[in-house]
Amino acid sequence: MKNVGVIGTGYVGLTHGAILAEKGNNVICYDIDREKIERLHKGQIPIYEPGLEQLVRKNLGEQRLEFTTNKDFCIKESDILFICVNTPPKQSTGGLRKADLSYVEHAARDIAEKMNGYKIVVDKSTVPIRTGEKIYETLKKFHPPHNFDVVSNPEFLREGRAVEDSMNPDRIVIGVMRDGEGNLLETPLENMRELYQNFNTKIVETDIWSAELIKLAANAYLANQVSFINKIAELCAATGADVSEVAKGMRLDRRIGQYAFLNAGIGFGGSCFPKDIESLHNIMMEEQINPELLKQVLEVNNAQKYYFLKMIEEGLWTIRDKQIAALGLAFKPDTDDMREAPSIEIVNKLNDEGAKVRVYDPKAMEQARSHFGDNVTYAKNLEEAVIGTDAIVLITEWDEFKNMDLESTKKMMNTPANFFDGRNVFNPKKMSEIGFYYYSIGRPHIEPRKENKKQ
Ligand code: UGA
Repeated sequence: MKNVGVIGTGYVGLTHGAILAEKGNNVICYDIDREKIERLHKGQIPIYEPGLEQLVRKNLGEQRLEFTTNKDFCIKESDILFICVNTPPKQSTGGLRKADLSYVEHAARDIAEKMNGYKIVVDKSTVPIRTGEKIYETLKKFHPPHNFDVVSNPEFLREGRAVEDSMNPDRIVIGVMRDGEGNLLETPLENMRELYQNFNTKIVETDIWSAELIKLAANAYLANQVSFINKIAELCAATGADVSEVAKGMRLDRRIGQYAFLNAGIGFGGSCFPKDIESLHNIMMEEQINPELLKQVLEVNNAQKYYFLKMIEEGLWTIRDKQIAALGLAFKPDTDDMREAPSIEIVNKLNDEGAKVRVYDPKAMEQARSHFGDNVTYAKNLEEAVIGTDAIVLITEWDEFKNMDLESTKKMMNTPANFFDGRNVFNPKKMSEIGFYYYSIGRPHIEPRKENKKQ
């Protein structure tokens, strides 16, 4: 059992703190945001993440987890301190954005100033390579009176599955510094091994830089798969092949595998993939390594939204005054996060073209208001979103949409009923039988079966 401090209670910090408490450690989570901490005290979590609220409440009740705005207390009471603060992309005037590391720096300075004994300072925020080294230098510069070690322990959880992923991770990566002879430092390794001893998974012990790069390279590789299949989807659309069949066949190769990110769609969003690829791109530039491959991943991803918009325009011929239901606004299902969500651009463009857009998402309606203001109509439920529309534009594949009653939806819509499926959720043949003009990504477009055309 360890005394653990977590600095920053966003997705990563909050989940990680709750999981470590669940595994039996004493965890103190610090955040600067007083209102957030007050809500967390009552067991109310500020984000939608399945299972997280229950886990927080359970561990609060069992007194292994506490929340505070008192930095001193968090730092002094903890042996291991996790830095889990935000590293948002900085806006840049030219080129790609860089991660803003000012919150990481502040956390390191605070730890240096307040530490009261040996501490292990662990970076868990996603950061560019060599941040661990910077944390080390910052700690040294601010003259902590005590000894410390710096560790990189990147987070691999997916939003919407944060609890599941953190309880059963594929691997745990621990990066530590080397001693004068090039050996990994044993004290921080031993402490981290102990902390993670109840997790039944492989532990990768390595140097800090490799640990940082494992995280960035894994995200870039997954994003690369998404852009790759989206490019193949474009080819499928041009030739009459079906990208779902292509992906199915590819996945059967064990070197590719059933979990490969080969679902064609409208591209990736979220706070991680775009930012991490940009970060990796910038590091390569700094090291004078050609980053073209990564740039292409981003360009293909960006083009995907316009490819979908073009498909909608071709299907409807003109967009002005068409009633359109935009279903799914979060960047992926099971989260209310709309950061870099493809929905933002798609809905705004439809709106600019003069469509009457009605939006609906099971969880992200509050966030949607800050993006779309008064420009769209906010439907209270799925039925209200689709009734009397000329087209459905499916943007995020929530279960609620996957399981929707297609027959009654078709009846509620105007004729002809157009369905633009940005996530290839439905079976084209079935959609045709029901009477939809059905358009999806990298699969042949389907017209209604003759007898259903006029229904
Ligand atoms: C991603 C990684 O999967 C996590 O391992 C990592 O910890 C996290 O980033 C992070 O760096 O914090 P996340 O962004 O939550 O997790 O979501 P993913 O499930 O990876 O999906 C990312 C995007 O790719 C979504 O927009 C999703 O719709 C899209 N995607 C994914 C596809 O378009 N096709 C696919 O086949 C898979």
